[in-house]
Amino acid sequence: MSFKTKMAESAKSKDSRLVLALDFPFEPQQNHLSILAKAQKVLQAVNPYICAVKINHHLTLPLGLFEGVAPLVEQIRGQGMLAIMDAKVNDIGNTNQVIAEYYFSAGFDAIIANPFVGWDEGMKPLFETAKRANRGVILLTYMSHKGAREGYGQSVIDPDSGEQMLQYTLFARKALMWGADGVVVGATVPDKIAKIKSILQGKADIYSPGVGAQGGTAEAAICAGSNYLIVGREITNSSDPAKAAKMLADSIRGI
Ligand code: XMP
Repeated sequence: MSFKTKMAESAKSKDSRLVLALDFPFEPQQNHLSILAKAQKVLQAVNPYICAVKINHHLTLPLGLFEGVAPLVEQIRGQGMLAIMDAKVNDIGNTNQVIAEYYFSAGFDAIIANPFVGWDEGMKPLFETAKRANRGVILLTYMSHKGAREGYGQSVIDPDSGEQMLQYTLFARKALMWGADGVVVGATVPDKIAKIKSILQGKADIYSPGVGAQGGTAEAAICAGSNYLIVGREITNSSDPAKAAKMLADSIRGI
């Protein structure tokens, strides 16, 4: 079963299209056990309202991949959710492959990567590794922060076709060509979500971070065509993470 199908099943069984970004503010390294405890507590509270959890450097740096994060991934999967590694993989192919192998062997179901490095000797080994391991790949297509326009929003000439187009529309086409399970498009840019949706035609899903703390709204992103919302601080910083997650999941149900 593809990662895209696993996500659809997880969203159906949880009745939620919410992906939790399990992020916490910086703490000195000696506090790593309290960071782990916080992460476990949030997962315990919010898991009924979340279909997947996204982890990134916020946790892999203080906890370590195999010592701290792998047991969390086990908890996530044991609670009926999928685990996504937001590594934004962005190196030469050989290194990308090794990065992916480590994250997949720690139990992650999918990995986020950056298409800027291109296919040959870049993304190709990563996609091949994911295929062999039956895991997913999600590609950055238009990021949620303001500066995203400088890269993802620039006008470029496709070196293969000679056609002039916007960088993010070229990345959306590549996501289809390369067989990505999904793309990341900021909830802060609903017009870009709609444009990318029209290119993807449902063959890859749209994941949108940037709700709440970054200024995007859940409703605008879903109405524009996002399949899943990625939300961090709005939930993890809340005094009642379960209530915050439930409210967000409820707010997009049926849209
Ligand atoms: P907040 O607290 O703003 O957290 O809800 C958002 C989470 O998502 C990550 N992030 C992104 N990841 N493409 C990505 O792959 C993006 O455009 C993007 N914008 C934010 C961020 O690192 C945090 O974990």
